[in-house]
Amino acid sequence: MIDPGPIGARRIAPSILAADFGVLAAQVQAVDAETDWLHVDVMDGHFVPNISMGPPVIKSLRPYSQRFFDCHLMMSDPGRYLEAFANVGADGVSVHVEVGGTSALLRDARDLGMRAGLVLNPETPYDAVVPFLGDIDYLMVMSVHPGFGGQSFIHDVMDKVRWARRDIDEGGLACDLEIDGGIDLHSAPIAAQAGANILVAGSAIFAQPQPLAAATAIRQVAWGDVS
Ligand code: DX5
Ligand code: ZN
Repeated sequence: MIDPGPIGARRIAPSILAADFGVLAAQVQAVDAETDWLHVDVMDGHFVPNISMGPPVIKSLRPYSQRFFDCHLMMSDPGRYLEAFANVGADGVSVHVEVGGTSALLRDARDLGMRAGLVLNPETPYDAVVPFLGDIDYLMVMSVHPGFGGQSFIHDVMDKVRWARRDIDEGGLACDLEIDGGIDLHSAPIAAQAGANILVAGSAIFAQPQPLAAATAIRQVAWGDVS
């Protein structure tokens, strides 16, 4: 497993969902200098109404990047595929709390040598993830309805980010806080201010004429530095 870096570090996670799959490795390498984690959206056409990519794509991409592969499993039955993800070089997998069986999924992911993340949809109450905060490596708050890139940021989920940041800090928990969906130059500082330390961005990076510069700009507006 590739080292995810220190808990709480400020990270940009470009989402390859918005990349050109025909030249995926080149797209990933073009933003490598601004990539802390690489966000890989896996959609099964069941949990979400869209299909994206799975283990074969991760396997093909693995030789081209040394970054932590943050695999977001938008799947109704992620447990069935955890071993396949571990085998192709997924470093972390996040499972949706809405699919249930959370404790077993988190344990199985870790037993397979991966970091374990938990995700909640915009309409899912924060209380649903609270029992697991001590057992996860990262919490990811969805700021769009999962399934598609390029949607508008849902401001209402910022309360959940604030509550999670409070609980992580007050509890001294070894847990990163990630936000996914609609992150751009306007929303990135809002999410960072609310307490997210990992910003996923797809369209705001890969749909731009200069993806690397776009990622630098997101980091800059979020945290005021380019390091
Ligand atoms: C949405 C995905 C997101 C998506 C974000 O289902 O989970 O990771 O790639 O894309 P943007 O940044 O375009 O909202
Ligand atoms: Zn995602």
